[in-house]
Amino acid sequence: MRLENLVTHRVDSAGPRPTPLPFLVPRLEEAGYTEQGVLAVLGVPDLPFLQFREIPGYLWRCRQENSARADLTALWLLGQKVPRNRIEAALTGAGVEALVQAGLLSVVPDGVIARADLHPCQGTWVFTDRVMAQVKYPSHVYELGEDSYMLARTTPRTPVRRALDLCTGSGIHAILASRHAESVVGVDLNPRALRFSRLNATLNGCSPRVEFREGNLYEPVPGETFDLITVNPPFVPTPDRSMAAYRTGGEGGEDVVAELFQGLESHLEIGGTLAMVTNYPLIPGRPFLERMRSWLGTSSAWGLTLLHFSDVPQGYFITRHLPYTGDPEAYTAEFERYLESYRAHGIEGMAIGVALARRLRADHPGWSEERRVGMPLHGVVPTVGPWLDDRERFGDPSWQPELDSRPVLGPQVAGLWKDLLSRHGKAEFHDPTWNQPAWLSPGAADLAGLLDGTRTVADLVRHTADGLGCNLETASLKVREWLRDLGENHVLN
Ligand SMILES: C[S@@+](CC[C@H](N)C(=O)[O-])C[C@H]1O[C@@H](n2cnc3c(N)ncnc32)[C@H](O)[C@@H]1O
Repeated sequence: MRLENLVTHRVDSAGPRPTPLPFLVPRLEEAGYTEQGVLAVLGVPDLPFLQFREIPGYLWRCRQENSARADLTALWLLGQKVPRNRIEAALTGAGVEALVQAGLLSVVPDGVIARADLHPCQGTWVFTDRVMAQVKYPSHVYELGEDSYMLARTTPRTPVRRALDLCTGSGIHAILASRHAESVVGVDLNPRALRFSRLNATLNGCSPRVEFREGNLYEPVPGETFDLITVNPPFVPTPDRSMAAYRTGGEGGEDVVAELFQGLESHLEIGGTLAMVTNYPLIPGRPFLERMRSWLGTSSAWGLTLLHFSDVPQGYFITRHLPYTGDPEAYTAEFERYLESYRAHGIEGMAIGVALARRLRADHPGWSEERRVGMPLHGVVPTVGPWLDDRERFGDPSWQPELDSRPVLGPQVAGLWKDLLSRHGKAEFHDPTWNQPAWLSPGAADLAGLLDGTRTVADLVRHTADGLGCNLETASLKVREWLRDLGENHVLN
């Protein structure tokens, strides 16, 4: 196998041709061309970490495995020419013809070569421009990067009525949302991206519920409101005005992010959630949570949770976005221009994370919290939606427990500890990367020890009145306060 030219083989500038590809998904499933299947072929910990310079090693592993999923991996993630008969064996001859018709595959001497990547993600597949292409055009349709997978894995998956995916690109988040939303709108500025996203929605059998519109952020959805908004906006701070639209967030990196937060109140229902993956600038004295709040304004109540995955040193961040042209002097000058621009905007580094904003009823006190959690490298994190739901429900000052309900600890709780000196409690969870231990007030810690499902709230109130020697009214206030403490810390079922 020889590495082919990854620049020439590209879906043409208009985008792929709308072509039904009904054979494809069943064939991909049969061949095992899934996230897990590809990881097993390539021996990498996670798909977004494929490296251009490691292609020879990946191809060696494909040859060793000698299977349909290895051939499809070489074709669709590594940009490799593969003998036509092998791809026909995996997809059928008619399948190869249909992909050529769609402009997604080229027939070349001795084989076929893909003109786009095909990324597996949570049982769906999306075509994009090539991740390994060293030259990216301004109309580049963004591959599934680390950011795309992080958002796909952390978006709350509660059933909703209407979802909006801004900056949809390949349409991946719109397609995933269509599994738990009655209807979805995807929006992008790039008409070429919309050709990809429409084809991808058809490929995954969700087009009746998903619609794609062209325009800037909320412009194509005037007056419409949604229960879930997902977005992977362009966020790279850059002094380079010509950087492709899928990446640049202006010199400060936050032009698009600020605009989308400013419009959020008009488009998010009360109780609705925004999930946004982003690299955000670290600016001393102006934490990202505060900047989000300032863009949102004060006319609605908001719950803000920032999932912070890691910091990215400034120099490393720049190298990831500044192409090396082979001229060290020009490279150094450009690098310094970036550093100077970052200094002028107070940017000391970058962080990667997911920002969640829940719109709350006007009388809710809301919250702002940063959780330092591990990057979700091992698939979907089901914790995020329940966290937000607990924060909203138990943070509501008007919340009252039903007297005949029997509160119990949630299955996520692995252990409860009590510090005999401070009398505070500590809850530990089964997934410590995502649920760091929670400190509980002394009263909440004692109450947690009684929640074995046998006692009603009325029993707990009587027990507390006896223990404290107080009347039932005082005891019921205490029980309510402790249950709220447990609930907000995600300890209750
Ligand atoms: C980083 S890509 C994300 C693609 C995809 N959602 C994902 O997560 O893989 C950003 C996308 O935003 C689009 N975009 C940039 N600015 C936009 C704007 N102001 N309004 C709508 N789309 C925009 C770009 O064309 C690009 O497709």
